[in-house]
Amino acid sequence: MELATPRHIGGKEGEAMKSRGTTIWCLLALVLGVLVATAAVLTILKDSDFFKKHRTPSHPINKNYADALQVTLQFFDIQKSGKLVDNRIPWRGDSGLEDGEGNLDLSKGMYDAGDAMKFGFPMAFTATVLSWAILEYGGQMNAVRQLGYAQNSLRWITDYLINAHPSETLLYIQVGDPELDHKCWERPETMSERRPVTQVNASFPGTEVAAETAAALASASLVFKNNDPAYSSSLLMHAQQLFTFADTYRGSYSISIPQVREFYNSTGYGDELLWAASWLYHATQDDSYLRYVTELNGQSFADPETTTWFSWDDKLAGVQVLLSRIIFFGSKDMPAIENIHLQMYRKTAEAVMCGLLPDSPTATSSRTDGGLIWITEWNPLQYAVASAFLAILYSDYMLTSQTETLYCSGNSYKPDDLRNFAISQADYVLGANPMKISYLVGYGSRYPQYVHHRGASIPVNAETGCQDGFKWLYSENPNPNIAVGAVVGGPSLNDSYSDTRNNVKQGEASTYNSALLVGLLSGLLKTSSVVLSYT
Ligand SMILES: *[C@@H]1O[C@H](CO)[C@@H](O)[C@H](O)[C@H]1NC(C)=O
Ligand SMILES: *[C@@H]1O[C@H](CO)[C@@H](O)[C@H](O)[C@H]1NC(C)=O
Ligand SMILES: *[C@@H]1O[C@H](CO)[C@@H](O)[C@H](O)[C@H]1NC(C)=O
Repeated sequence: MELATPRHIGGKEGEAMKSRGTTIWCLLALVLGVLVATAAVLTILKDSDFFKKHRTPSHPINKNYADALQVTLQFFDIQKSGKLVDNRIPWRGDSGLEDGEGNLDLSKGMYDAGDAMKFGFPMAFTATVLSWAILEYGGQMNAVRQLGYAQNSLRWITDYLINAHPSETLLYIQVGDPELDHKCWERPETMSERRPVTQVNASFPGTEVAAETAAALASASLVFKNNDPAYSSSLLMHAQQLFTFADTYRGSYSISIPQVREFYNSTGYGDELLWAASWLYHATQDDSYLRYVTELNGQSFADPETTTWFSWDDKLAGVQVLLSRIIFFGSKDMPAIENIHLQMYRKTAEAVMCGLLPDSPTATSSRTDGGLIWITEWNPLQYAVASAFLAILYSDYMLTSQTETLYCSGNSYKPDDLRNFAISQADYVLGANPMKISYLVGYGSRYPQYVHHRGASIPVNAETGCQDGFKWLYSENPNPNIAVGAVVGGPSLNDSYSDTRNNVKQGEASTYNSALLVGLLSGLLKTSSVVLSYT
């Protein structure tokens, strides 16, 4: 990201016996058969009734979410730093090989957006969102042969995050100096400026970045649990240590390291602590994490009366949906006090959903005439796609738990209403909007040609360095390389979009935008159900 973004706005014997036995067995089998058949018919009737009520109506816009998902996942290959493996982007090569210092190898990970910075806070959020998408919709991703790419991209980040955490109370949170980095316009493969590393530690803590990293590693430990148990254990160990570090040494990284304020300023760390503890509870089933988010800190870190917008800075809405999952799928043996708190999270999650439904009495007015959730001029699509991802999750939690109704101030809604909202946001992004443009680069017949992205804007064989590279920023020609899978910032409140390369608010892509769209599209691949448990 190039500049400060405003926070959020926010189984027997003798012949006779045998024959009689056979008769009895035949009779028993007949009776059983009739019973089973009756039960099956009843089940089919019940299911078809259920599905009649919940079937996704065929949407007028014929968009292929599987194609869009396949496009979106390529953006992570574009953003990869380090020695590339099975690179599928012809204009990308190795870069950042020296990132780190001494024995510290920070060569992997991903560049944040159009620049070559590695910002740990949003990078970890990208990983957490990718993990969540895989945990809920991995089966559907697999059905369209995209699961491997998603896991691979996640691991490219978690390998980096493990290296960035060399001891219990030390976490490297940044590679590159944004001042130096932004004085250059160059391909990552040829960058020449110094790339210092920045850390948080016990004296200069960074609770939100350490907690978000814990959330990323805890959720990823669930993703890799079956196919790589050793890696999964290592992820979980780092996650637990980082959570302890974050919680013990409380302090915002925006205070410890004032330079981050201009780029990814944090408005508070209570949400990340709840988010990390929620993921650790899912990863370990350890009740201490559940107590942490309920009786111990539920009150102080989450205001059940206030709904917020899910983003790299604010995870509360994500926490509310993730904790609602426990109520939907398995709160039988829950102590009463935890149950009360979890119900509060669910109530807030419901309020968030009621705000999103366009015809609910409490519908948010933060929408464009074209129907897009719109919160801020900076990267508006982040909020729309993040909201739609939470809506599809909540819709699927309702459907899978056979929860038929969501009440919003007296009005009742069905899981399909939430799904239709999610579809409306996805379709807007993919081209059903007043500009008739796809905001997902590489998808559809019309998409932004001037994405604010250094690597995409400079020809591979151009012999330019730091300073003279700016001619490619200001060039009138469209990007020579297509930033496939980039989700740009998005339109203005009046649904207009200006496709110019230096239009950073609207035209810059980011890894978290693409991760959120991966979650949304995966949920829309088919009328879905989600797994009852991540483990
Ligand atoms: C702790 O982190 C601060 C802020 O990044 C840094 O200035 C300081 O040198 C670090 N402390 C040690 C002992 O490395
Ligand atoms: C960063 O966030 C803090 C805490 O919310 C706020 O007080 C400060 O004004 C923000 N700084 C910038 C530059 O946005
Ligand atoms: C839409 O809003 C943008 C940003 O506020 C403005 O620059 C543009 O002129 C507006 N377009 C129309 C057609 O009103």
